[in-house]
Amino acid sequence: MKKAYLDNAATTAVDPQVLAAIQPYFSQKYGNASEPHRWGQEARVALDQARDQVATFLGAKSGEIIFTAGATESINFAHKGLIEALFQKFSSSNFQFSRKLHIITSSIEHKAVLETCRHLEKRGWVQVTTLPVDKYGLVKAADVAKAIKPNTVLVSVMYVNNEVGTVQPVAAIGKLLKKLNQLRVMSHQPPVYFHTDATQAVQYLDCQVDQLGVDLLSLTGHKIYAPKGIGALYVRQGTPLVRQLDGGGQEFNTRAGTENVPYIVGLGAAIERVSRVDQDTKLTKIIKLRDKLIKGVLQIPGAVLTGHPIKRAPHIASFAFRGAEGEAILLYLSEKGIAAASGSACTSGQLQASHVLTAMGVKPELVHGSLRLSLGKDNTEAEVNYVLQTLPVVIKKLRAMAPK
Ligand SMILES: Cc1ncc(COP(=O)(O)O)c(C=O)c1O
Repeated sequence: MKKAYLDNAATTAVDPQVLAAIQPYFSQKYGNASEPHRWGQEARVALDQARDQVATFLGAKSGEIIFTAGATESINFAHKGLIEALFQKFSSSNFQFSRKLHIITSSIEHKAVLETCRHLEKRGWVQVTTLPVDKYGLVKAADVAKAIKPNTVLVSVMYVNNEVGTVQPVAAIGKLLKKLNQLRVMSHQPPVYFHTDATQAVQYLDCQVDQLGVDLLSLTGHKIYAPKGIGALYVRQGTPLVRQLDGGGQEFNTRAGTENVPYIVGLGAAIERVSRVDQDTKLTKIIKLRDKLIKGVLQIPGAVLTGHPIKRAPHIASFAFRGAEGEAILLYLSEKGIAAASGSACTSGQLQASHVLTAMGVKPELVHGSLRLSLGKDNTEAEVNYVLQTLPVVIKKLRAMAPK
């Protein structure tokens, strides 16, 4: 049977070169990086090198990179760590907020952000403003500016939406927050920190933290051909953060626990490859495939493109179909050897309407018929052709089966 894996936004295969870089650290170079002996120091050198690789990619300092178990942990750490640190800071200073701390986020964030904000809100520590998006899933920088209050301490807006691929105006938000913070410093007000979840952006977009104007950036390995269970959090020097895992002094005393050296080496190798591989060639190839998919799928009657027509990540093509249920489309495609996603892969176990499509105001008759096809470095034109042959047949079949 022909096969086409078009679910690279959910996860990617580990790259053979990344695998080769990792392998010695399981059973040959297996030292604990905290130990002073030769084995430990060998692991320490590898850990430092990987940290440099991530830092170089982000245009950051090595000491600003903290390794985590993935984007979910990075996001939790960024939000909870910052809020806890600010509580400590404000309770021991003359500066007093008359209200709770205030976070601004958007309605199309990954659940890792939305649920973390909800947790902080339920604890009674923060008030959260969740910004609306337009019909393309785009947050407006001007809406961020309007939502800022004297007690705002954090803005968290993702770089690329994982369900529909819309690229958010992160650099524009960064710029406006920088200006605002200059004024706040002059009036002795605390700054507004800026976090972005760059999970879906790392492979294709500029992630230099100074260009983006972010103080905190979350990323994960398994979307960029490194293993699952490894990620990183960028923390701009001077950003207050209380550690959420207590124990030993690893990761500059910010995250306790013996470092996962093999996977950290894998993340370093994978992120280094992102900039080493010719970006123009990579983008040209993937955008060509994505646009062929979009053009072809939109030939199916009752198919609509979801997400922004232009401000769209190179690897994500997303659609909604009238009269066909997303989960059923996935199962039928899977039988034909095609991997895709409906809504977010992380939430596809639940049959609720996608919160992203709902926030975009996608019509009720379309909201359950969503399909995301996400490309990766190994996809070919033949696979795209196969999907374009198979999908119309699947949709027709499902529509014929649907109760009238
Ligand atoms: C945008 C976005 N943020 C966060 C995550 C969570 O990443 P991880 O699986 O590394 O925790 C994902 C994964 O699907 C994602 O797409």
